[in-house]
Amino acid sequence: MPQPKPKQPIVIAIDGTSASGKSTNSKLVAKALGFVHVDTGAMYRTLAWYCLEHKIDAHNPKAVAAACRRWKTMLKCSEHHAYLTVDGYYPEKEIRTAEVSAAVPHVAAVPKVRDWMKKTQRDCIKFGSLVMEGRDIGTNVFPETDFKYFLDAQLEERSRRREAEGVQENLAARDMRDSQRAAAPLMIALGAKVINNSHMTSEQTSGTILADIRNRLNERKARA
Ligand code: DC
Repeated sequence: MPQPKPKQPIVIAIDGTSASGKSTNSKLVAKALGFVHVDTGAMYRTLAWYCLEHKIDAHNPKAVAAACRRWKTMLKCSEHHAYLTVDGYYPEKEIRTAEVSAAVPHVAAVPKVRDWMKKTQRDCIKFGSLVMEGRDIGTNVFPETDFKYFLDAQLEERSRRREAEGVQENLAARDMRDSQRAAAPLMIALGAKVINNSHMTSEQTSGTILADIRNRLNERKARA
């Protein structure tokens, strides 16, 4: 059952390692609450795809930053899902290829890109309350939110999940690059509830998050 709409929009930040179930669980939580779902990884992937399409070297931070200044994007929201279009096009399928997965951590390490993404992602609040998934939502994009979750699972389990999706990927290498970059690295936000879901179903993971959100909302109500 969707909750009654909060007076002020609220943000649920769901961060975590690759293939830790962020997307599935963020969508389930957003649906249960009637909030807008935002996949910030998809925005970084869109820039990586744009660079590949325009023969811009993803390993050249200056060229990537220049592309990010120039590209023509729009933030859209339909059916409780916020996303970015480039030149009026949403490359929904194209951003999931192995080439884009390989290029995206390099693009995501560029400080100017992260500044642009943070501003754009914060703008999503115009669509209402959000469930936003990524790597730095609780630490950097919406550090002021009280609703922070960090998902993780054993590497073998995460690799198995990716393989089941038909994707062969070195998750350990990508997590390492995401955690070791200087700008807004992947880390657990202060006050985040950490959920290791190696042995949990998505119903159990999203149920744990929803129960915690409802507790916090009730505590808020009691304090008001
Ligand atoms: O969640 P994903 O695999 O679609 O993310 C794609 C890449 O973008 C991944 O390498 C981490 C990076 N990313 C990030 O640095 N910050 C975010 N908020 C979201 C994703």
